Amino acid sequence: MTPIPPSAMPRDLAAAIGELRREKNAVILAHYYQDAEIQDIADFVGDSLDLSRKAAATDAGMIVFCGVRFMAEVAKILSPDKKVVLPDMEAGCSLEESISADDLRKFKAEHPDHVVVTYINSSIEVKALSDYVVTSSSAIDTINAIPADQPILFVPDRHLGAWLEKVTGRKMTLWPGSCIVHDKFSAKEVKELKAQYPGAKVAVHPESPDSVLALADHVGSTSSIIDYAVNTDATHFIIGTETNIIHQMQKAAPQKHFIPMSSQEGCKCAMCPFMALNTMEKLYLALKNETPEITVADDLRERALTPLRRMLDISAAAAKAREKNAA
Ligand code: 13P
Ligand code: SF4
Repeated sequence: MTPIPPSAMPRDLAAAIGELRREKNAVILAHYYQDAEIQDIADFVGDSLDLSRKAAATDAGMIVFCGVRFMAEVAKILSPDKKVVLPDMEAGCSLEESISADDLRKFKAEHPDHVVVTYINSSIEVKALSDYVVTSSSAIDTINAIPADQPILFVPDRHLGAWLEKVTGRKMTLWPGSCIVHDKFSAKEVKELKAQYPGAKVAVHPESPDSVLALADHVGSTSSIIDYAVNTDATHFIIGTETNIIHQMQKAAPQKHFIPMSSQEGCKCAMCPFMALNTMEKLYLALKNETPEITVADDLRERALTPLRRMLDISAAAAKAREKNAA
């Protein structure tokens, strides 16, 4: 992308974004890993499942997706008639890169009779070859909905897969992918932080290694980590996921202390380099120019839609059943 001359930018970016959004009847969706100022200007901030649901239900004319490319692609698959733009098309994901469609074709051929459960952090081509798509907040319900004698291939995150095996009691054949941010968390650091902050609770995303998850008080999706940190009766929380998530916790519980785990030497924090490509400047330009636009081929979209729809249906049915049980 060519550098943007500062003179081409309005002085008050937030106001200019607000104005364009109204003019164009656009909705800004943002993931919790985006910069605080992007989260604050978004119409909706959520985890991957929440964002998929919002994208499927919106009646806005255009979706400006502040997240990584696979998330914007999901929005386009679920809302094909909407224009979907992403501030920076280079915003990829190391998990997505860890498996190609050819890899998955081969993996399936080596394991006939298996169904494929695919983490949403994957390309549209990989989703199109899958039976079920899951996010970290919908995976347990989806795996529990698959008949017990049905063998399963789980791709591409080996840490999430291993955690799901433990929680559901289902043995699965796992693809050896991982996230460059969460994979670097260590049990050593958790122990050191616990020694430094006695009484602190540890909340971690399941993309982290097993040795880290074993020390956690809570393991779950980004939205569940926020719920846990805001609603649990403790003052200090060690947070094992991308550091920008702390913004929402701090807003909801300013009196509490949130300590980021680090997957980077310099910042002593955990930053996703792909999410960081989206900036307020690029968000403004994406809204103004309606580009870069996500496009997907019709046949590919239809094939990827089936496993995504299964995820939305299974998770909605499970949420309904939980509500009924709680009443
Ligand atoms: P969530 O679905 O929990 O928001 O996670 C997305 C992600 O990319 C984690 O690295
Ligand atoms: Fe992908 Fe990891 Fe970034 Fe999440 S944090 S978007 S899994 S690279």
